[in-house]
Amino acid sequence: MYAEMAQYYDRIYSFKDYQAEVALLIDWIETHVRSRGRRLLDVACGTGCHLEFLARAFDAEGLDLSRELLACAARRNPKSSFHCADMRTFELASRYDVITCLFSSIGYMPSIEDLNKAVDNMARHLVPGGILLVEPWLTPEVWKPGTVHGLFIDDPDLTIARVNTSLTQGRLSVFDLHHLVGTPEKTVHFVEHHELGLYTVEEMMEAFETSGLQTMYESDGLTGRGLYIGVRAAESHAS
Ligand SMILES: C[S@@+](CC[C@H](N)C(=O)[O-])C[C@H]1O[C@@H](n2cnc3c(N)ncnc32)[C@H](O)[C@@H]1O
Repeated sequence: MYAEMAQYYDRIYSFKDYQAEVALLIDWIETHVRSRGRRLLDVACGTGCHLEFLARAFDAEGLDLSRELLACAARRNPKSSFHCADMRTFELASRYDVITCLFSSIGYMPSIEDLNKAVDNMARHLVPGGILLVEPWLTPEVWKPGTVHGLFIDDPDLTIARVNTSLTQGRLSVFDLHHLVGTPEKTVHFVEHHELGLYTVEEMMEAFETSGLQTMYESDGLTGRGLYIGVRAAESHAS
């Protein structure tokens, strides 16, 4: 997944305004965080576009499963550290004031058990009073199986046509992204298979709450997909 498309990722998603999303995130973070440190981890950071702006306000690190995307992220953010790991099982020595997991990356958890594992693992890496912000994938009600989608890029030296049919298998949204990519050297075709879990708001809330986080749901979020915000209890100082 993402190996072949890594080199085109930023162009394909150039419609996203990462700087504006980070401005919104920082507002939520400053409102809810209860710890005082500035350590941030972006889980499933992709090519590091959020990190570029988050690093202006935080000591920011990134984590992702894809070596190809991490290489892009490291080029974009040469001062940040990166970790190649799975969000369910990563084990870092540091604890963070802020952990983000954005642009529906949590959807790659194929079952409720995996979802719970990932949220629990991220929550475990927070300092007391730290905050977890997760932008979800679509809910079962919003996903429309049997629909066809296309994206077209027409730059002078790069043409991309990406087409897919959206399908459902049980609790999973399933789609093959067919890419036709033309450059001055050659035109190639490749397919990426994606499977993302369709979780309800209640299931997402439960994953956060069972991880011990005080949880809020912002229905619009950064891009209309919603945003879950969980805060780990601050340490109590009994007198
Ligand atoms: C839609 S991209 C989002 C990337 C980035 N957050 C952004 O906003 O551009 C989904 C990301 O999830 C990562 N990913 C998928 N499964 C993962 C897992 N189990 N652990 C860590 N990262 C994962 C992919 O490699 C990819 O970078």
